[in-house]
Amino acid sequence: MEIGGTALAFYGLGATALATSLVVLKRRLQLSKAKYASLDGHARIARRIASLVPFYEYDESRFFCSDKAPAEIAARRREGFVRLATLYATRFRETNRRTAEVIGAISDLQFTEAYRVPFQYSRFVLQHLKIGAFIQSSEGVMVADLDGNRFYDLTGSYGVNLLGYDCYKRTMEHALARVRELGPVLGPYHTVIADNVKRLTAISGLDEVSFHMSGTEAVMQAVRLARYHTRRSHLVRFCGAYHGWWGDVQPGVGNPVPARETYTLKDVSDDSLRLLRTRCNIACVLVNPLQALHPNGAAPADSSLVDSGRRAQFDKAAYADWLKRLRAVCTERNIVLIFDEVFVGFRLALGGAQEYFGVRADLVTYGKTVGGGFPIGVICGRKDLMKRFRDDRPADICFARGTFNSHPVVMGAMNEFLQLLDTPEVRGLYRNIDERWNSRAEQLNARLRDESLPVQVANMSSIWTVCYTRPSRYNWMLQYYLRAEGLALSWIGTGRLIFSLNYSDSDFAAVADRFVAAVRAMERDGWWWSNPSLTNRSIKYDILKEIIAYRFSPRHKHLGPMLRN
Ligand SMILES: Cc1ncc(COP(=O)(O)O)c(C=O)c1O
Repeated sequence: MEIGGTALAFYGLGATALATSLVVLKRRLQLSKAKYASLDGHARIARRIASLVPFYEYDESRFFCSDKAPAEIAARRREGFVRLATLYATRFRETNRRTAEVIGAISDLQFTEAYRVPFQYSRFVLQHLKIGAFIQSSEGVMVADLDGNRFYDLTGSYGVNLLGYDCYKRTMEHALARVRELGPVLGPYHTVIADNVKRLTAISGLDEVSFHMSGTEAVMQAVRLARYHTRRSHLVRFCGAYHGWWGDVQPGVGNPVPARETYTLKDVSDDSLRLLRTRCNIACVLVNPLQALHPNGAAPADSSLVDSGRRAQFDKAAYADWLKRLRAVCTERNIVLIFDEVFVGFRLALGGAQEYFGVRADLVTYGKTVGGGFPIGVICGRKDLMKRFRDDRPADICFARGTFNSHPVVMGAMNEFLQLLDTPEVRGLYRNIDERWNSRAEQLNARLRDESLPVQVANMSSIWTVCYTRPSRYNWMLQYYLRAEGLALSWIGTGRLIFSLNYSDSDFAAVADRFVAAVRAMERDGWWWSNPSLTNRSIKYDILKEIIAYRFSPRHKHLGPMLRN
């Protein structure tokens, strides 16, 4: 009896342990299924792999034929490269000289310079094709460097420049004039805030507003509020989406601390909805609507452009349908739905992504352009979610402050910007906005196709990205040809072109002419040489082989002597 009872207890325990393990396994499998099958979708693995990638680089003899192009093609590439290098050294002389004086002491600049192109090519390119850090002036849709060169601006100042630089010069000046009497007083508000709040609640359709100093901070606080009110730990972000540089929203490469309470799920996927339905620890879902252009893809920087695998295509109806389904699940599960409109807010429609896709969020973050030219982050949200204390638990608060929140000048410039949105001129810019930008993209694509050039653009309204149709290791060179034609790009290169809405048809025609000329020149110089054995897969495979070889034989880090200046 005694033994029988013990055995029974033992079996009982075993059965419970097995059942528990099966439940854990099922949950684990469900989570795995809801992850996107890429390194971006698997933050921990990505970090581990990134830490194993050794540095190595191509010297002059490999630089021009890392894809095993024949000698004649390598010579053409070299000729083109030397021509560009000569042009850069003379045309951008003063801008480069001033940049060289400061770069050693500005860590941000060292970082962006190092990551303009894939690391194997980076040092060689940096040595010969220098891009200055300084800009002297802006006017219309153009900027000018210290040498007096004028460029069509495709950087959009990270998205801040929505209405044209001259417009922000005015909002900044008017703001200074409006708040001059108050000056730098912080804590108490300038009365202009009242109108900002009225306008922002109307635009967002939400009850309350809080002001912050950057988009990153606004997202940070939105997530903190969601955790505070739901009493749950985890945030969900979708694979590839950028939400600023705060650790919890950047769980993968680039953040030294693992984000343990973040789920990175597949975008536009029923598997993710299934997970949201079954987990009880999810406080909020963060959506960056820009991902509609490249769901599950990270910000398309040229530094990762090792082949022609970059893909982008915007399907508004499909993405709107996804957001509706996501909205329904969040409502059903009391999960806070946060739209991070720091980038796309005010760019897609006057009412932002909520209006554009016809879906309402619980919290919305804005930033960039809404500061009227100054640094800003904003949250608009439902009253119950924005509250930072509990009436029944006075010591249980959700703390968020910031010295420069609600700075008078920023609030003044914001007011100027928000008022502009009501003017007939600005309202006119939003009329048929998608038709205008889609047709511009299509015209450019048609020209590129007509000349059988291996480049196409994809766009989400005025946000564009460049895609490449022929397998190549050298697509990132296009950013240097574009610059030589007078087109200014941000440090992530052809991954993102951002147009301001004041581009006229003739401005755009000039950009298109220069764009086609740059692509033509690069084709002529042989960078897009291809043969049937060169595929995106074969390129990736070759790079993997190189990485493994250099990992295990570090003495080969430099593939021969560097080109001497
Ligand atoms: C969607 C989104 N969220 C947050 C941020 C962070 O904003 P900031 O750079 O002002 O901190 C950005 C910046 O690009 C963004 O695009």
